[in-house]
Amino acid sequence: MTKLVAISGSLRKASFNTALMRAAIAMAPDGVQIVEGTIRGIPLYDGDEEAASGVPEAAAILKDLVAAADGVMLFTPEYNNSIPGVFKNALDWMTRPASDISRVFSAKPFAITGASPGNFGTLLSQEAWLPVMRTLGTRPWFGSKLMVSKAGSVFDPDGKLVDEAIQKRLRTFVEGFVAFVQETKG
Ligand code: FNR
Repeated sequence: MTKLVAISGSLRKASFNTALMRAAIAMAPDGVQIVEGTIRGIPLYDGDEEAASGVPEAAAILKDLVAAADGVMLFTPEYNNSIPGVFKNALDWMTRPASDISRVFSAKPFAITGASPGNFGTLLSQEAWLPVMRTLGTRPWFGSKLMVSKAGSVFDPDGKLVDEAIQKRLRTFVEGFVAFVQETKG
C-alpha cells in the first residue's frame, strides 16, 4: 500500500484548494491511500511557546502524518503572489525541533498544485514553495503542472469538481505523482 498525505493551505469552509484536494483524494488509484491532513488548530509559531510546551498537538499530528507517508501533496492557495501565511506557519511548526527535519522531510516526494479564482491559478505561490522544499531536503516532483485558474467556474457551490478538463488533468497529476512515489520507494 502506498500512503500519501494531502494538505490544503486554506481554512475556508468553501476553499477551492480543499475542494481540489478532496477531488484528488477521491481519485486515489487502487493500492494507494491518500489521507487528508489539516492545518486547522495550528497556532502562530512562537519560540517561547515551543520552549515551554514543545510542538502543539495539531502540528505534531500533521508532522507525524508526513513522517509516516510515502509522499506529500500540497494544495496551495496564493496570497499576494506567494504562500499564505497560515500554510507556511503550519509547515514551520512541522520543522521543529530542527533535529526532526531529516526524519520527517528528507528525500520525501512532494507534489504541489493549487487553485485560485484568478487567471494564473497559483503559479507564483507554487513557485514560492520550491525554495522551502529544497531547504527541507525533500524531493519535488515536476512531472506535470496543474494550476487551476478561474476556480469559481471549475467547482460547483458544494465544492464538487465539475470541469471535465480539470478532472482529467487532476487524474493525470495524481497518477503521475503516485508513479514517482512508487519508483522512489522501489
Ligand atoms: C488573495 N487571492 C489571490 N489570488 C491570486 O491568484 N493571486 C494572489 O496574489 C492573491 N492574493 C490574495 C491575497 C489575500 C490576502 C487573499 C485573502 C486572497 C485570492 C485567492 O486566490 C482566493 O481568495 C482563493 O479563494 C483562496 O483560496 P481558497 O481559500 O479558496 O482555497
